[in-house]
Amino acid sequence: MVSLTVNGQTVLAPEGTTIHRACESAGIETPTLCWAENLTPVNVCRLCVVEVEGQRTLVPSCARTVDDGMVVHTDSERVRHSRRMVLEFLGSGVDLDQAEPLQRWIDEYGAEPDRYDQPDRPAVTVEEAPKVQDNLYIRDYSRCVLCYKCVEACGDDAQHTYAIAVSGRGFDSRISTEFDVSLPDSACVYCGNCIGVCPTGAIQFKTEFDLRSAAEWRPDEQTVTQTICSYCGVGCNLELHVQDDRIVKVTSPADHSITHGHLCIKGRFGWQYVQPVEPPTRR
Ligand code: SF4
Ligand code: SF4
Ligand code: FES
Repeated sequence: MVSLTVNGQTVLAPEGTTIHRACESAGIETPTLCWAENLTPVNVCRLCVVEVEGQRTLVPSCARTVDDGMVVHTDSERVRHSRRMVLEFLGSGVDLDQAEPLQRWIDEYGAEPDRYDQPDRPAVTVEEAPKVQDNLYIRDYSRCVLCYKCVEACGDDAQHTYAIAVSGRGFDSRISTEFDVSLPDSACVYCGNCIGVCPTGAIQFKTEFDLRSAAEWRPDEQTVTQTICSYCGVGCNLELHVQDDRIVKVTSPADHSITHGHLCIKGRFGWQYVQPVEPPTRR
């Protein structure tokens, strides 16, 4: 175990633990965006930065491991200022309406993305209609914060399919299939693991997209039922999100020992056989 000080509080953590994990175990919340417990940190968002005494720059808490005697500040004015700027830059070029955790932090850090508004500048960096190319999921890159989570989930961290990657440079950077072909023409195998990790709604189930478009997406009224996928003997845990007696999306717990939050096309999308044939009458 190593001993460090976080915001004046002594925290003990096993060697090799990240600062973020050590803070979490001590009940100190650190915002994250590109980090997820089922992905390898890629360190691209810098929302999780903290101040470490003796270090010239702020450090990403999601990737930096603890040292004995380390003195960490997670809520200093320097840290708050940096997080506020990150949130403002993201919000000034991306539609964050459906990015629930980010909305909370925007409020908490007093970020004002609107102060970068200019009459002659587009409201979002990627100005294009959502890509609706099949009945399973859609991609709306006006909501994409380029956190790389979908790329990692499609690649080394889960699926090993490599159907999507970041293409372009600077303001032209975007998540794309090879040569920007449509999803059905790409290498995508429709596991939906990219949907499972996307924090902003840039990739989402077609069912959710249709319900949101009809102003019928009501997460507060949804129930979540845990079950085991019946398609094979692996034993993947499924969480069935149900609204108005219909399954509207399927996830898997990130801490589940078999799936680690990732599924295949059958578990993710193969639920139609348990749906009522006709939509039930609304109560
Ligand atoms: S659905 Fe699966 S294979 Fe297709 S892009 Fe997403 S993660 Fe990759
Ligand atoms: S599509 Fe979602 S998961 Fe992928 S980089 Fe954009 S915001 Fe991140
Ligand atoms: S969450 Fe740590 S750099 Fe993105």
